[in-house]
Amino acid sequence: MSGRDYSAVREIKARLNLADMARRYMDLRQVSGRWKGLCPFHQEKTPSFSINEQEGFYYCFGCHASGDLIDFYCRINGLEFREAIQQLAEEAGVELTEYKPDPKVQQERDLRRQCLRMYDIARGHFRNCLRGAGGQACRAYIAGRSMAPEVVENFELGWAPDEWQSLGDALQQEGFSPAQGVASGLLSRNDRGRIYDRFRGRLIFPIKDLSGQVIAFGGRIIVKDEAKEQAKYINSSDTPIYKKGEHLYGLFQARRAISAQKRALLTEGYMDVLTLHQYGYENACGVLGTALTPEQVKRLGGFCSSIDLIFDGDEAGRKAALKSCEMILGRGMQCRVVLMPDGEDVDSLLQEQGTEAFEQLLQTAPDGVEYCIDAVSRYAPRDVLDWVKRFLESLVQPELQSFYISRLAGGLGLDEAVLRNSAVPPRKAPQTRYGMENGPGWHAGERSRTTGGPNGPSGRPSAQGQAARPFGKKGGDGYMGKSGKTGRTSMPQPPVAKPSLAVPLEETVLLFLVRYPHHLVVLEEHGGRELLQSPWAERLWEAVVEHGTGDVVTYLSGKEREFWIRHRVVNSVPAEKEQEELRDVCAFLDKNRRQQQGQSLVAAMRHVRQGGEPDADMELLRVLNESLGRSNGEY
Ligand code: UTP
Ligand code: MN
Repeated sequence: MSGRDYSAVREIKARLNLADMARRYMDLRQVSGRWKGLCPFHQEKTPSFSINEQEGFYYCFGCHASGDLIDFYCRINGLEFREAIQQLAEEAGVELTEYKPDPKVQQERDLRRQCLRMYDIARGHFRNCLRGAGGQACRAYIAGRSMAPEVVENFELGWAPDEWQSLGDALQQEGFSPAQGVASGLLSRNDRGRIYDRFRGRLIFPIKDLSGQVIAFGGRIIVKDEAKEQAKYINSSDTPIYKKGEHLYGLFQARRAISAQKRALLTEGYMDVLTLHQYGYENACGVLGTALTPEQVKRLGGFCSSIDLIFDGDEAGRKAALKSCEMILGRGMQCRVVLMPDGEDVDSLLQEQGTEAFEQLLQTAPDGVEYCIDAVSRYAPRDVLDWVKRFLESLVQPELQSFYISRLAGGLGLDEAVLRNSAVPPRKAPQTRYGMENGPGWHAGERSRTTGGPNGPSGRPSAQGQAARPFGKKGGDGYMGKSGKTGRTSMPQPPVAKPSLAVPLEETVLLFLVRYPHHLVVLEEHGGRELLQSPWAERLWEAVVEHGTGDVVTYLSGKEREFWIRHRVVNSVPAEKEQEELRDVCAFLDKNRRQQQGQSLVAAMRHVRQGGEPDADMELLRVLNESLGRSNGEY
């Protein structure tokens, strides 16, 4: 990542306030100088989500989600870092300089802006038409399908009159040419060059992106004209602002409920989504006239790890369900499969039989792995093997293989060991913790995953106890043995590394660094830097050395970033304690240094004794004695 990108990130963070941003998605209360609220990333009844407004961090004591404004925006909207930066830059009026010199990119951006503007005009136009005199038939249709006014309002349904030039005229009034209308996909051009409205005589479903902008439409005919060959639904085709298979209908309206419930309901139809919301299932969204795509799964995965899939119970529905399960499980997410009874969809089921009938289906729905096993076990044996092989290869995280191997082997009657031996390791994506080193890719997905979330890396030390009394009794057990498990490298450790220290020691020193980074020099003088062993701890130290305190978080990722944020957010030690703490930590470091020296002397003694070098032996004994005397025999 270039320096210019950093400056854009800094600029965005300087212009947008994290608390204001968070307030768009949640309620915040001020509690002793800090903003607190119910965490939007996990379900909870008492607020453990905390914001340090001054420094622009958030931290949740419940699920340990943490980060800055950009992390928050990524996570809550299920966006990649790059996407989030682009949206935020636009909002904050920050120029992303790297794009500027390329006129083609500029042109594309202008085109996108124009399109968004036209879709917004269209949204307003269709809504007005629904309310107006000409919308009577459509209003009657909506009422006939028992759709609640709040849902119609919330999803901004509209009516495209059965006319050739209705939207075309509206766009022209706003200064857009017919050719621009055609480029946006809102108007069509026939062979003879005549331009006309694409959506005519249809109930309109606006499709929004995660920032709430309309990027496409779906339209349902309300009067079947036998004379014409009409599709029941038509959808926008691909345009500069919309690509089929990348979006989900209703996700904008459902995203908060999905985050809070950690579950999404996924269905196939527009009407199903609306009816689910009407009946209180606010975490419902829908695929848009295509089979579920990996992009959609990934997008949902930004909000939750469990999806309830709703499909038709027929042959086609069951096949589609299997494909969808494979994709979801392959990402390490969970799902359940709800198959609808013959001739029903969720809309008709809820409208005719109410929530109880639907709950019944939900409760008895098989889990995704079970569903796959059940479906695949009907295959011929060699097809079973093919399926298993393909499935195992498709896993996005190689670590998932062993998890699935035992479950699939058990379920499909295969020999686990044989399966394990024959399984091809999935193509492992190179794991970069330092996403930032890798040029403009930024690997934000990687980063936001490591910086938080209940499903993120496990085994975090308890934040509260540590923060309150860093130099008192340390919860040692909690830390032991974690350092080796960070999963970065599996290289064998060199046998003569630094002597193995208890991890809390290193975290204690770091804790002080995080709380009082301006004492860096003092800490270095007392050997704080040499005490560090874990790569992440060293990276954190170096980052403070290099970037000082103000903006260090911009340059951090992974565990060091989480550590910094967690302890900055909860930094609640009164200033007058500072000198006292500094004295304590220096004494602590000095004592430790002496112990270290003592230990290496003892080790050296043992070595020498075996080799038998009498002179060296005597010399060592003398130094050791001296050292022992100084540290009062504390080792
Ligand atoms: P359905 O035919 O099941 O319709 O198509 P539906 O959603 O139940 O709608 P109602 O209840 O009849 O009004 C399911 C979904 O498949 C897509 C739409 O997204 C639709 O909601 N579809 C269907 C199309 O894209 N085009 C079509 O012609 C039909
Ligand atoms: Mn239906």
